[in-house]
Amino acid sequence: MKKRILALAACFAVLLCSCVKEQQPTEDVSKDNLTVVGFSQVGAESEWRVANTESVKAALSVKNGYELIFDDARQKEENQFRAIRTFIQQNVDYIVFSPKVETGWDSILQEAKEADIPVIMIDRDIKVEDESLYTAYIGSDFRKEGEKAVQWLENLLKKQQRTEDPIRIVHIQGTMDSSAQIGRTAALEYAIKRNPNWEMVAQECGDFTRAKAYEVMGAILKETKNIDIVYCENDGEALGAIDAMEEAGLECNVNDGVIVISFDATKLGLQYCMDGKIALDVECNPLQGPYVDGIIRSLRRGEPIERKTLVDETQFDCFSITQGMIDGRKY
Ligand code: AHR
Repeated sequence: MKKRILALAACFAVLLCSCVKEQQPTEDVSKDNLTVVGFSQVGAESEWRVANTESVKAALSVKNGYELIFDDARQKEENQFRAIRTFIQQNVDYIVFSPKVETGWDSILQEAKEADIPVIMIDRDIKVEDESLYTAYIGSDFRKEGEKAVQWLENLLKKQQRTEDPIRIVHIQGTMDSSAQIGRTAALEYAIKRNPNWEMVAQECGDFTRAKAYEVMGAILKETKNIDIVYCENDGEALGAIDAMEEAGLECNVNDGVIVISFDATKLGLQYCMDGKIALDVECNPLQGPYVDGIIRSLRRGEPIERKTLVDETQFDCFSITQGMIDGRKY
């Protein structure tokens, strides 16, 4: 474990980026033995994100031998650069971050590499020239999530004998250029190419938030109400889009209304699925903290690690969901 730099310098750096030390060690845990981790989270835009943050905080707790320095980037990549640079100045033992977008990370990760600090990425993936700039990635296969959604839709429309009917789709995208948006969008766009009766009538960014999706869906509804499917890239967006549609007098249900597709499968999303308003909710698993803890423990013991870990994920639809599935949901 590296020695931390002078306390005064560290405090100054903490103030600079407004990073927050999450816990003070309890008396029975020696501060010198704690593993210091800087965690740059992209923001707090969704229930999913809050659950992801909580998962990391719970796994990297003082009780588990960590001192966690947390920074919320408030959806700005430059804030993530600033936070990571501050973690480097603080000489933390590990850096964990959830990148807002896929590109732009080469220089800052080069700085971390030169400082000999292992970087673990969670949630979203990145594209860098040199893969050795980070040590491990733990996250989701977003393209696969999208494929699950469009395959389910194809099967549903076949069962409903609508393979020849025009199918008019509204697409609310997540944060542009994030790997979650790129994967889920690619799956839908590819499905539209292979289904000649599917048509994209509107495609707008909802920023993964309920408020923005409500706003863009409202604007789309002023142009047309002739919509068969609304494909939202997370639960917050689905809820916002449903609010706007219901206000405009449209029903959301799989039989004779608008078919709403969503991602995340949060407790609230699953409740909407149970109520029949979300037809399919593809799970995106935010509980990545224990994986990060596992990777750090292996690294500390000098053991080999999985460079890429894709978390387990399932899907829920309005036909088979049960109250028990919702009750068992923690987030
Ligand atoms: O990157 C994961 C996505 O980001 C989740 O689907 C969404 O809810 C979050 O904000």
